[in-house]
Amino acid sequence: MIKFQNVTKIFETKNKQKIFALKNVSFEIDKGEFVLIVGKSGAGKTTLLKLIFAGEKPTEGKIFFEGKDITKMKDGEISRMRREIGVVFQDYKLLPTKTAFENLAYVMEVIGFLDEEIKRDVPKVLEIVGLNEKAESFPSELSAGEKQRLSIARALISRPKVILADEPTGNLDPYNTLDILKIFQKIHQMGTTIILATHDKNIVDILGKRVITLEKGEIVRDEKKGKFVL
Ligand SMILES: Nc1ncnc2c1ncn2[C@@H]1O[C@H](COP(=O)(O)OP(=O)(O)O)[C@@H](O)[C@H]1O
Ligand SMILES: [Mg+2]
Repeated sequence: MIKFQNVTKIFETKNKQKIFALKNVSFEIDKGEFVLIVGKSGAGKTTLLKLIFAGEKPTEGKIFFEGKDITKMKDGEISRMRREIGVVFQDYKLLPTKTAFENLAYVMEVIGFLDEEIKRDVPKVLEIVGLNEKAESFPSELSAGEKQRLSIARALISRPKVILADEPTGNLDPYNTLDILKIFQKIHQMGTTIILATHDKNIVDILGKRVITLEKGEIVRDEKKGKFVL
């Protein structure tokens, strides 16, 4: 479903220094997999996710989404691909002036869903993340764990094939972290491919899924049921 072929990403800083965020990275992720991308801060995790989303272009190498080279896609194709991808961030990125219901409805409206579909789907997705009683609450009235559950709901609402999650438990305590991981497991069981980046070794041990380990932009390990080694 997603394939990186010898991908290198170089950033150039203001004083012309070259930073290799990713170095000759190759891997393949199949439909229905749950993959963790782990590594210390600065290892290249966010860059890798941004490349999948076509938020950045690789300096070298090829990236394929469902067999199509992302770097050769036209704008229209990139928009279509992005609709298949849900994104979850550490800092939620919710709309503060909209309720939980409206945060999800807004995404559906932008995509062009009908009002009936919105009224039907939003409660279903709020139910999946256990927030049906908070439909009318604003983000400022939600706890950190609830905010992250809402941001997962927002990623889910467009029925994506893939969810990219960048440090989704970075602001959460261990109890809420477990809660969020359970939700990701549930979504995975429903058939969604999940790619989750984290520097938290507990997550690796809890989930027992495939782990790709990055070190200074290079893949140093790719294990079916990974252990976290730094
Ligand atoms: N836009 C950018 N400009 C310059 N350097 C960047 C940029 N984005 C990321 N980097 C650098 O690339 C490296 C990898 O960053 P990142 O992918 O954010 O790592 P991680 O998410 O694992 O912490 C770091 O050294 C970071 O400073
Ligand atoms: Mg990061």
